[in-house]
Amino acid sequence: MLKKVSVRTLKKIKDNGEKFSVLTAYDYSTAKYIDEAGVDVILIGDSLAMTALGYESTNSIGVEEMSIFTKAVAKGVNRAMVVTDMPFMSYTIDIPSALTNIGNMVKYGANAVKLEGCNDYIEKLVECTVNMGVPVMGHIGFTPQSQNVIGGHIIQGKTEEAAKELLKQAKKLEKAGAFSIVLEMVPEDVAKNITQNISIPTISCGAGRYCDGFVMVCDDCFGKFTDFTPKFARKYADMASLIKDCATKFDYDVKNGNYPNENEVY
Ligand code: KIV
Repeated sequence: MLKKVSVRTLKKIKDNGEKFSVLTAYDYSTAKYIDEAGVDVILIGDSLAMTALGYESTNSIGVEEMSIFTKAVAKGVNRAMVVTDMPFMSYTIDIPSALTNIGNMVKYGANAVKLEGCNDYIEKLVECTVNMGVPVMGHIGFTPQSQNVIGGHIIQGKTEEAAKELLKQAKKLEKAGAFSIVLEMVPEDVAKNITQNISIPTISCGAGRYCDGFVMVCDDCFGKFTDFTPKFARKYADMASLIKDCATKFDYDVKNGNYPNENEVY
């Protein structure tokens, strides 16, 4: 029986100076294989808005869609911690509606949720969510749900003042009770400083080599999503070509009478 990854597991990994892996997944079978591979955290990222649903940005996805993908992923996972990204507007209107949406994700199979940003409201919400019994993964630096306010996909924390502000936010999230924090598109030295100055694990999403955990969108990792690829993504396969190749062969076989053959009929 595999021991389920928990907030305590991830804290211990940080305290031991080790690293943990985080991959997104959006469906049952992909989640199953990622879990079997030993990845520690599986995130139902709202990146699925683009990679799985073809939307233009993460802001187009809602709680109903995230709940469907959460249910599918959770069914495929035994060991990894399952974290659901709370989508745009599902947690920022008011605390009661946020807690309802968050609680429902847990009912659908999430072990924790991820919330973007850090301000007085988010700090309060993190506190309330943890008090309700749901662990919170923070997310600061570039926060895609606020990309229209930020003005695009822009590296955050580049000035001394901005770097100090990020550290302040990380400390506030830690104090509010978050169990980990994603740092997205942050200079490596800034992420390193944050990692060394908080007790909870940091997770690098384009934040360099010195965080405690590292996250990638599975479709980038597998080479399946090709519309755009961030600089920090490493492609371990070329699934886009593999899928096209399989589909081309199937199409050829059907059209040339090679599929099905005598062993493939009842
Ligand atoms: O939506 C997502 O996949 C994410 C990760 C890349 C951190 O937020």
